[in-house]
Amino acid sequence: MTRIARATIHAAALRENLAVVRRHAPGARVMAVLKADAYGHGLLPVADALAGADALAVSCLAEALPLREAGFGHRVVLLEGFFSGDEIPLFAERRLDAVIHAPWQLDCLESAARGRPIDVWIKVDTGMHRLGFPPEAAAGVYRRLRACPAVGEIRWLTHLASADDRDDPTTGAQVDDFEAARGELPGEVSLANSAGTLGWPVAHGDWVRPGICLYGASPFIDGGGRPPLRPAMTLEARLIAVHRRCKGDRIGYGGGFTCPEDMPVGVASIGYGDGYPRHAPNGTPVLVAGHLAALAGRVSMDMLCVDLRGAPQAAPGDRVTLWGEGLPAERVADAAGTIAYELFCRLTPRVERIVEE
Ligand SMILES: Cc1ncc(COP(=O)(O)O)c(C=O)c1O
Repeated sequence: MTRIARATIHAAALRENLAVVRRHAPGARVMAVLKADAYGHGLLPVADALAGADALAVSCLAEALPLREAGFGHRVVLLEGFFSGDEIPLFAERRLDAVIHAPWQLDCLESAARGRPIDVWIKVDTGMHRLGFPPEAAAGVYRRLRACPAVGEIRWLTHLASADDRDDPTTGAQVDDFEAARGELPGEVSLANSAGTLGWPVAHGDWVRPGICLYGASPFIDGGGRPPLRPAMTLEARLIAVHRRCKGDRIGYGGGFTCPEDMPVGVASIGYGDGYPRHAPNGTPVLVAGHLAALAGRVSMDMLCVDLRGAPQAAPGDRVTLWGEGLPAERVADAAGTIAYELFCRLTPRVERIVEE
């Protein structure tokens, strides 16, 4: 038996989730967010599966250039634009869109050498308070960009801070402030991340920018009302040992779990060296041969132990699902005090990636 710590990427699930997005935002075009190696799922396989999207978004040239080299002709938007003026010629040559969020980027564009103009998106800060121009500066930024020979088409973008909470009034206020900032100025608009796409029709605009929901995780903080999404990644390992432990036996480093009764405890072939969160506590759900079981004791680098009382028939070689089909990553993330985004992005290269149609 070889060691198995494997992420299966389900291309069909990615496509189905894209269809869910289109059903929720029928009037908008879809910019699929593929940054951070497509949220840990693998940039090029995900781009292949989501080739039906209208545009792709990444965070930097290192993520954009492989898309062009692989032949993807989509509009590719770099969500933080260029990181220095000397990147501008590559944006022009490779036809990449830059989000413009700061005055220094305007200066760079104004002093750029003549070349093919690049398409830009003005980022307006309507409440996220991370990147972007204040709403009152938006019209001035537009005028400067419009006068700049290095700039082609101009579009508008803002980012929603609290759309994951369907009751939070911040989102409506951000939409209003965005519209007011742009006023009568021309250009398509984009506001909605996954939560905005699935939960806030008022924020659909011309382009939605879903990320996490394409990978099959709910973007909402309330687990209830999970949209009909299919996990695009199943992370699995195998049981490599099963022991009968006695009441009072302590499991793993520091004896982090004490057996409350005589019980079976399994050892799975995956640990924090693969990216499974070390801080996941006792009771974090796992599936063993399809049965719900629970983490027992501290996660080790290469292994973790499982309370098998929920799967008493379990035997070495059985499949252990850490998240994916049958166990949404959000449930694991909730137990571990994190978010599905982080679980996906933290997988290490030791995890074998398989793409399944
Ligand atoms: C600017 C921007 N738009 C869209 C997204 C996609 O967000 P989500 O994965 O929540 O859909 C992100 C991701 O953080 C982002 O930074």
